[in-house]
Amino acid sequence: MDRRDLPIAFFDSGVGGISVLKEAVALMPAEQYLYFGDSANAPYGTRKIEEIRALTLEHAAHLYAQGIKALVIACNTATSAAIRPLREIYTDIPVIGIEPALKPAALMAQHPSVIVMATPLTVAGDKFRDLLGKYSDRADVIPLACPGLMEYVEQGCLDTPQVRQYLQDLLTPALTEHHPDAIVLGCTHYPFVRPLIRQIAGPSVRIFDGGAGTARELQRRLRESGFLSAHTTPGSVQIKDSLPEKTALCRMLLETASIS
Ligand code: DGL
Repeated sequence: MDRRDLPIAFFDSGVGGISVLKEAVALMPAEQYLYFGDSANAPYGTRKIEEIRALTLEHAAHLYAQGIKALVIACNTATSAAIRPLREIYTDIPVIGIEPALKPAALMAQHPSVIVMATPLTVAGDKFRDLLGKYSDRADVIPLACPGLMEYVEQGCLDTPQVRQYLQDLLTPALTEHHPDAIVLGCTHYPFVRPLIRQIAGPSVRIFDGGAGTARELQRRLRESGFLSAHTTPGSVQIKDSLPEKTALCRMLLETASIS
Protein backbone atom coordinates (compact mmCIF):
# COMPACT_ATOMS: atom_id res chain seq x y z
CA MET A 1 0.00 0.00 0.00
CA ASP A 2 1.15 3.56 -0.77
CA ARG A 3 2.22 5.04 2.55
CA ARG A 4 0.77 8.40 1.53
CA ASP A 5 -2.72 6.84 1.72
CA LEU A 6 -2.37 5.74 5.37
CA PRO A 7 -4.19 7.73 8.06
CA ILE A 8 -2.68 10.29 10.44
CA ALA A 9 -3.42 9.31 14.04
CA PHE A 10 -4.41 11.88 16.66
CA PHE A 11 -4.38 11.06 20.37
CA ASP A 12 -5.71 12.94 23.39
CA SER A 13 -6.86 12.09 26.90
CA GLY A 14 -10.40 12.80 25.68
CA VAL A 15 -12.25 15.11 23.33
CA GLY A 16 -9.79 18.05 23.50
CA GLY A 17 -7.52 16.93 20.68
CA ILE A 18 -10.44 17.54 18.33
CA SER A 19 -9.45 21.24 18.52
CA VAL A 20 -6.11 20.33 16.90
CA LEU A 21 -7.69 17.87 14.47
CA LYS A 22 -10.02 20.66 13.29
CA GLU A 23 -6.99 22.77 12.32
CA ALA A 24 -5.35 19.82 10.54
CA VAL A 25 -8.50 18.98 8.55
CA ALA A 26 -8.82 22.65 7.53
CA LEU A 27 -5.18 22.73 6.40
CA MET A 28 -5.02 19.25 4.80
CA PRO A 29 -8.57 18.21 3.85
CA ALA A 30 -7.46 15.40 1.53
CA GLU A 31 -5.84 13.37 4.34
CA GLN A 32 -7.36 10.40 6.20
CA TYR A 33 -7.55 10.91 9.96
CA LEU A 34 -7.91 8.49 12.84
CA TYR A 35 -8.74 10.10 16.21
CA PHE A 36 -8.55 8.30 19.53
CA GLY A 37 -9.60 9.84 22.85
CA ASP A 38 -9.04 8.12 26.18
CA SER A 39 -12.02 9.59 28.02
CA ALA A 40 -12.30 6.48 30.21
CA ASN A 41 -9.02 7.47 31.89
CA ALA A 42 -9.44 11.27 31.72
CA PRO A 43 -8.43 13.62 33.15
CA TYR A 44 -4.73 12.95 32.63
CA GLY A 45 -3.71 16.34 34.01
CA THR A 46 -4.22 15.41 37.65
CA ARG A 47 -2.59 11.95 37.38
CA LYS A 48 0.99 10.92 38.15
CA ILE A 49 3.45 11.37 35.27
CA GLU A 50 4.26 7.62 35.18
CA GLU A 51 0.57 6.76 34.74
CA ILE A 52 0.15 9.28 31.92
CA ARG A 53 3.28 7.96 30.20
CA ALA A 54 2.09 4.34 30.45
CA LEU A 55 -1.41 5.16 29.13
CA THR A 56 -0.02 7.24 26.26
CA LEU A 57 2.48 4.55 25.24
CA GLU A 58 -0.23 1.88 25.36
CA HIS A 59 -2.64 3.83 23.14
CA ALA A 60 0.12 4.92 20.76
CA ALA A 61 1.05 1.25 20.26
CA HIS A 62 -2.57 0.42 19.32
CA LEU A 63 -2.71 3.32 16.88
CA TYR A 64 0.63 2.42 15.31
CA ALA A 65 -0.46 -1.22 14.89
CA GLN A 66 -3.37 -0.05 12.71
CA GLY A 67 -0.93 1.30 10.10
CA ILE A 68 -0.46 5.08 10.31
CA LYS A 69 1.89 7.53 8.60
CA ALA A 70 2.16 10.03 11.47
CA LEU A 71 1.22 10.29 15.14
CA VAL A 72 0.01 13.55 16.68
CA ILE A 73 -0.11 13.70 20.46
CA ALA A 74 -2.84 16.35 20.55
CA CYS A 75 -2.55 16.76 24.31
CA ASN A 76 -0.11 19.06 26.11
CA THR A 77 -0.18 16.82 29.19
CA ALA A 78 0.60 13.57 27.33
CA THR A 79 3.26 15.38 25.28
CA SER A 80 4.90 16.59 28.46
CA ALA A 81 4.87 13.07 29.94
CA ALA A 82 5.64 10.86 26.95
CA ILE A 83 6.93 12.58 23.80
CA ARG A 84 10.56 11.53 24.37
CA PRO A 85 9.98 7.77 24.65
CA LEU A 86 7.47 7.91 21.78
CA ARG A 87 10.07 9.49 19.49
CA GLU A 88 12.58 6.81 20.52
CA ILE A 89 10.13 3.99 19.73
CA TYR A 90 8.55 5.26 16.48
CA THR A 91 11.48 6.33 14.39
CA ASP A 92 9.88 5.59 10.99
CA ILE A 93 7.00 8.11 11.21
CA PRO A 94 6.73 11.75 12.29
CA VAL A 95 5.69 11.99 15.96
CA ILE A 96 4.34 15.47 16.67
CA GLY A 97 3.58 16.83 20.13
CA ILE A 98 1.95 20.04 21.32
CA GLU A 99 3.12 22.53 23.91
CA PRO A 100 1.66 25.82 25.16
CA ALA A 101 2.01 28.50 22.43
CA LEU A 102 4.16 30.73 24.61
CA LYS A 103 6.50 31.85 21.80
CA PRO A 104 4.02 33.94 19.74
CA ALA A 105 2.55 35.37 22.95
CA ALA A 106 5.95 36.33 24.39
CA LEU A 107 7.02 37.94 21.11
CA MET A 108 3.80 39.89 20.47
CA ALA A 109 4.97 43.05 22.28
CA GLN A 110 7.76 44.55 24.37
CA HIS A 111 7.88 42.39 27.51
CA PRO A 112 4.18 41.42 27.63
CA SER A 113 2.38 39.90 30.59
CA VAL A 114 1.18 36.40 29.60
CA ILE A 115 -1.09 34.03 31.51
CA VAL A 116 -0.66 30.36 30.54
CA MET A 117 -3.71 28.23 31.35
CA ALA A 118 -2.89 24.49 31.47
CA THR A 119 -3.39 21.32 33.47
CA PRO A 120 -1.61 20.92 36.84
CA LEU A 121 0.69 18.27 35.28
CA THR A 122 1.69 20.51 32.38
CA VAL A 123 2.56 23.53 34.53
CA ALA A 124 4.52 21.35 36.97
CA GLY A 125 6.46 19.49 34.26
CA ASP A 126 10.11 19.79 33.18
CA LYS A 127 9.07 20.59 29.63
CA PHE A 128 7.14 23.63 30.81
CA ARG A 129 10.02 24.70 33.03
CA ASP A 130 12.32 24.58 29.97
CA LEU A 131 9.79 26.57 27.93
CA LEU A 132 9.56 29.21 30.68
CA GLY A 133 13.35 29.40 30.79
CA LYS A 134 13.40 30.25 27.07
CA TYR A 135 11.01 33.19 27.32
CA SER A 136 11.31 34.48 30.89
CA ASP A 137 13.53 37.39 29.79
CA ARG A 138 11.05 38.34 27.01
CA ALA A 139 7.79 38.25 29.00
CA ASP A 140 6.23 38.04 32.45
CA VAL A 141 4.76 34.56 32.36
CA ILE A 142 2.09 33.57 34.87
CA PRO A 143 1.26 29.83 34.90
CA LEU A 144 -2.36 29.16 35.85
CA ALA A 145 -3.27 25.55 36.61
CA CYS A 146 -6.92 24.86 35.77
CA PRO A 147 -7.93 21.62 37.53
CA GLY A 148 -11.52 20.79 36.64
CA LEU A 149 -11.78 22.82 33.44
CA MET A 150 -11.31 19.95 30.97
CA GLU A 151 -14.13 18.07 32.70
CA TYR A 152 -16.65 20.72 31.59
CA VAL A 153 -15.57 20.24 27.98
CA GLU A 154 -15.70 16.45 28.39
CA GLN A 155 -19.34 16.88 29.45
CA GLY A 156 -20.06 19.07 26.43
CA CYS A 157 -20.58 22.11 28.71
CA LEU A 158 -19.08 24.87 26.55
CA ASP A 159 -21.30 27.73 27.74
CA THR A 160 -23.27 26.81 30.86
CA PRO A 161 -23.67 28.96 33.99
CA GLN A 162 -21.38 26.49 35.84
CA VAL A 163 -18.42 26.72 33.45
CA ARG A 164 -18.89 30.50 33.18
CA GLN A 165 -18.74 30.75 36.99
CA TYR A 166 -15.70 28.45 37.11
CA LEU A 167 -13.84 30.63 34.60
CA GLN A 168 -14.86 33.86 36.29
CA ASP A 169 -13.63 32.58 39.68
CA LEU A 170 -10.37 31.37 38.15
CA LEU A 171 -9.58 34.26 35.83
CA THR A 172 -10.85 37.38 37.60
CA PRO A 173 -8.15 37.44 40.35
CA ALA A 174 -5.41 36.71 37.78
CA LEU A 175 -6.72 39.39 35.40
CA THR A 176 -6.92 41.96 38.21
CA GLU A 177 -3.45 41.18 39.53
CA HIS A 178 -1.50 40.75 36.29
CA HIS A 179 -3.34 42.82 33.62
CA PRO A 180 -2.25 40.34 30.93
CA ASP A 181 -1.63 41.26 27.30
CA ALA A 182 -2.21 37.64 26.33
CA ILE A 183 -3.64 34.34 27.52
CA VAL A 184 -2.21 31.08 26.20
CA LEU A 185 -4.55 28.08 26.12
CA GLY A 186 -2.07 25.34 27.09
CA CYS A 187 -4.52 22.44 27.02
CA THR A 188 -6.26 21.24 23.87
CA HIS A 189 -9.64 21.15 25.61
CA TYR A 190 -9.60 24.90 26.33
CA PRO A 191 -10.12 26.30 22.78
CA PHE A 192 -13.70 25.02 23.07
CA VAL A 193 -14.32 27.54 25.87
CA ARG A 194 -12.33 30.27 24.13
CA PRO A 195 -15.47 32.34 23.35
CA LEU A 196 -16.25 32.42 27.11
CA ILE A 197 -12.64 33.22 28.04
CA ARG A 198 -12.76 36.03 25.47
CA GLN A 199 -15.91 37.47 27.10
CA ILE A 200 -14.36 37.36 30.58
CA ALA A 201 -10.90 38.65 29.58
CA GLY A 202 -12.23 41.40 27.30
CA PRO A 203 -11.31 42.35 23.74
CA SER A 204 -7.85 43.79 24.46
CA VAL A 205 -6.34 40.49 25.66
CA ARG A 206 -4.98 38.32 22.83
CA ILE A 207 -5.65 34.59 23.12
CA PHE A 208 -3.24 32.02 21.68
CA ASP A 209 -3.42 28.25 21.31
CA GLY A 210 -1.07 25.75 19.72
CA GLY A 211 -3.54 23.98 17.40
CA ALA A 212 -2.81 25.79 14.13
CA GLY A 213 0.96 25.73 14.73
CA THR A 214 0.83 21.99 15.40
CA ALA A 215 -1.14 21.39 12.19
CA ARG A 216 1.46 23.39 10.21
CA GLU A 217 4.28 21.42 11.82
CA LEU A 218 2.49 18.18 10.91
CA GLN A 219 2.18 19.34 7.31
CA ARG A 220 5.86 20.32 7.21
CA ARG A 221 6.96 16.93 8.58
CA LEU A 222 4.71 14.99 6.19
CA ARG A 223 6.04 16.97 3.26
CA GLU A 224 9.64 16.42 4.38
CA SER A 225 9.01 12.64 4.65
CA GLY A 226 7.23 12.48 1.28
CA PHE A 227 4.07 11.29 3.10
CA LEU A 228 1.59 14.02 2.06
CA SER A 229 -1.52 12.65 0.36
CA ALA A 230 -1.52 12.89 -3.41
CA HIS A 231 -5.34 13.05 -3.49
CA THR A 232 -7.35 16.19 -4.11
CA THR A 233 -10.77 14.90 -2.98
CA PRO A 234 -11.73 15.22 0.72
CA GLY A 235 -10.46 12.46 3.02
CA SER A 236 -12.30 11.01 6.02
CA VAL A 237 -12.16 11.26 9.80
CA GLN A 238 -12.63 8.15 11.90
CA ILE A 239 -13.29 8.82 15.59
CA LYS A 240 -12.89 6.33 18.45
CA ASP A 241 -12.91 6.80 22.21
CA SER A 242 -12.33 4.46 25.13
CA LEU A 243 -15.86 5.55 26.15
CA PRO A 244 -17.85 4.81 22.96
CA GLU A 245 -20.60 7.25 23.97
CA LYS A 246 -18.11 10.11 23.61
CA THR A 247 -17.80 9.77 19.84
CA ALA A 248 -21.01 11.78 19.23
CA LEU A 249 -19.59 14.68 21.27
CA CYS A 250 -16.31 14.46 19.32
CA ARG A 251 -18.26 14.64 16.05
CA MET A 252 -20.23 17.66 17.26
CA LEU A 253 -17.02 19.42 18.42
CA LEU A 254 -15.36 18.66 15.07
CA GLU A 255 -18.27 19.74 12.91
CA THR A 256 -20.00 22.60 14.73
CA ALA A 257 -18.21 23.95 17.82
CA SER A 258 -16.38 27.27 17.56
CA ILE A 259 -12.76 27.52 18.68
CA SER A 260 -12.19 31.11 17.59
N1 DGL B 1 -6.22 17.87 26.55
C1 DGL B 1 -5.17 17.71 27.49
C2 DGL B 1 -4.04 18.73 27.33
O1 DGL B 1 -3.87 19.31 26.25
C3 DGL B 1 -5.42 17.51 28.94
C4 DGL B 1 -6.62 17.23 29.60
C5 DGL B 1 -6.49 16.26 30.77
O2 DGL B 1 -6.27 16.70 31.91
O3 DGL B 1 -6.64 15.07 30.50
O4 DGL B 1 -3.29 18.96 28.23
